[in-house]
Amino acid sequence: MKIIRAKDYKDMSRKAANIISAQVIMKPDAVLGLATGGTPVGTYAQLVEWHKKGDIDFSGVTTINLDEYRGLPRGHKQSYWHFMQVHFFQHINIREDHIFVPDGSNLDKEEACLEYDRIIQRVGGIDLQLLGIGMDGHIGFNEPGEVFKLGTHCVTLTESTIEANMRFFHNREDVPRQAYTMGIQAIMQAGKVLMIVNGEHKAQIIQRAFAGVVTPKIPASILQLHPNFILIGDEAALSKMDM
Ligand code: PGA
Repeated sequence: MKIIRAKDYKDMSRKAANIISAQVIMKPDAVLGLATGGTPVGTYAQLVEWHKKGDIDFSGVTTINLDEYRGLPRGHKQSYWHFMQVHFFQHINIREDHIFVPDGSNLDKEEACLEYDRIIQRVGGIDLQLLGIGMDGHIGFNEPGEVFKLGTHCVTLTESTIEANMRFFHNREDVPRQAYTMGIQAIMQAGKVLMIVNGEHKAQIIQRAFAGVVTPKIPASILQLHPNFILIGDEAALSKMDM
């Protein structure tokens, strides 16, 4: 596990974008595992800027997003599909048929999850997985539990996740209660895992996840076992890590 200290959010975003662009330069047909949330917005903005300058070509890249709300179709303003379009895909030269996000409009849980696992297999797995971390230690929507769930699965969101995601909706009732998420296996099999984190509110969960025991009660803790895991945090988020 490699920990990289960033000065602030902007610095964190630039460092993450640098690693992602290096991946795409080294392997133009790379498979990137991507994340939504507030944390990666600056990383995507930086990649878009470099793309517009002609520095990164996404024409051969495939993307596999971590998760999607169950019940929200692509067109829905709060869907993660929409989020990715607005913050990233609309601004780069990625092929539409190279973009994958779990199908939130498919209410058949089993079918939706199996289909996503088939897609991950078909593209040959993930070269670089970008991750944020939830306040409860979730990665994607792998919420705390008794076991690590390996494949893509449907989750019922925890109260703390619903609380955290409320800011994107008009009110609490509008936040979907369930989501489809990539499982721990596809994340752990990624060639490289890059987690970005900022803010003092994340300092405690970062300490629990990466300076404590590996447990499904803190899903991110399993990344301690990944052979190529990079954590980029700003000063505030890393303030409780002894280093
Ligand atoms: P955030 O979410 O980037 O909006 O803090 C991270 C996550 O829940 O994985």
